[in-house]
Amino acid sequence: MIGIGLLGYGTVGQGLYKIVSERRDQLSYILSDEMEVLRVLVRDLDKKRDVEIDKDKLTLDFERILDDSNISIIVEVTGDLEKGYNYIRRALEKGKHVVTANKAIVSAYFEELSTLASNKGVYFLYEASVGGGIPLIKPLKDIISFNEVSSIEGILNGTCNFILTKMTEEGLSYQDVLKEAQRLGYAEEDPSSDVEGMDTLRKLRILSTLGFGGVITEDDILCDGIENISDLDIKLLKGKNRVVKLIASTYAFADGYCSIVQPRAVEVGSYFANVNLAFNSIGIRGNYIGDLKLFGSGAGMLPTANAVLTDCIDVVLKNQNLETPLRGKGLKNNNKEIFGRYYIRLDSGTEEAFEDVIIEKLHEEPLCFLTREIRLMDLLDKIASYEEGAYSIIGL
Ligand SMILES: NC(=O)c1ccc[n+]([C@@H]2O[C@H](COP(=O)([O-])OP(=O)(O)OC[C@H]3O[C@@H](n4cnc5c(N)ncnc54)[C@H](OP(=O)(O)O)[C@@H]3O)[C@@H](O)[C@H]2O)c1
Repeated sequence: MIGIGLLGYGTVGQGLYKIVSERRDQLSYILSDEMEVLRVLVRDLDKKRDVEIDKDKLTLDFERILDDSNISIIVEVTGDLEKGYNYIRRALEKGKHVVTANKAIVSAYFEELSTLASNKGVYFLYEASVGGGIPLIKPLKDIISFNEVSSIEGILNGTCNFILTKMTEEGLSYQDVLKEAQRLGYAEEDPSSDVEGMDTLRKLRILSTLGFGGVITEDDILCDGIENISDLDIKLLKGKNRVVKLIASTYAFADGYCSIVQPRAVEVGSYFANVNLAFNSIGIRGNYIGDLKLFGSGAGMLPTANAVLTDCIDVVLKNQNLETPLRGKGLKNNNKEIFGRYYIRLDSGTEEAFEDVIIEKLHEEPLCFLTREIRLMDLLDKIASYEEGAYSIIGL
């Protein structure tokens, strides 16, 4: 018996329980043993659940899961950063394998938890933490084993992509689309970590640290979200044959790397311009693999649970290396070398600071214009005196 202890019975937890129940026979066949979710940690024992479960399996007490010798794999899907981290650390210390979908935990404690698992000779796997249902982490680990990765770029947040797609296709305002996204369950009641870019940044931190083989922390990544983008911005850029996407990119540059999350107006017809609604896509470039693109559901009950289950299967079949995939390369942060052309909207204030960089005005009030190529840091210096939230900067 392969016993699973599930921490959290929300969207992903219920999805995992559903697949494991529905595919009991196939799992027994490929694993040569029965896989069963033995206990489930929740906060509320009486809450109505969409996927029915035997109430006896539910517990409020993590210790009951930790101390259950029949449980060898702990699946953490609570979404709670601090408690989830403590559960994972204690499970690894106790010699249990851990699978998580929680990008916030992986991002905040990547090196510590990877090293701990490796020292204990157990797995710490997190396929669902980036790209939801897209198989991405395991392919990336395979790629880095002998490729030099030169860039990773992608649309990693379904909420932002849904909002931007709707604004583009229906000409609606950011606020109206956000309300619709919340009604449809594509955006949380508090959407800040998605729309301010934090969720994307955490995913980029994980991918770039793996891809470049050195520590790239959340603080090493420049980040801007989509919350200041207006329908006017979208319309003016559409007139220039461009669509706005929130793009995460990390690339090798000089003797280090540049890493940034920013709204970018990509050309209509280009690859990322066609990644719409809640879909995610990631491009990886390596010296042998060339240009690889992965596309799929970045979230959702079953795609995400599918990714969690593939990790559990890998644990049982020992399909992955037990050694930490993280390497200790010293990497120089070259974000100050990021150059580009930009679209800018200024809701108030004069254009004086920008006179030397404007190459085309697109609108008078508010003032919207395109810049010549400029160092991003110089652009941020120019905009520093403008009121927070009263402008937008979109890369071209
Ligand atoms: N949803 C997706 O499509 C998706 C995609 C990729 C990654 N993820 C990641 O997967 C994780 C779970 O997401 P989700 O959407 O499944 O979350 P969710 O629907 O909010 O479910 C969270 C579950 O965890 C339980 N829980 C929360 N805090 C707890 C605590 N401190 N102690 C015990 N139980 C606790 C909740 O219990 P109660 O039900 O009793 O309140 C609930 O059952 C998150 O880290 C998320 O970022 C989700």
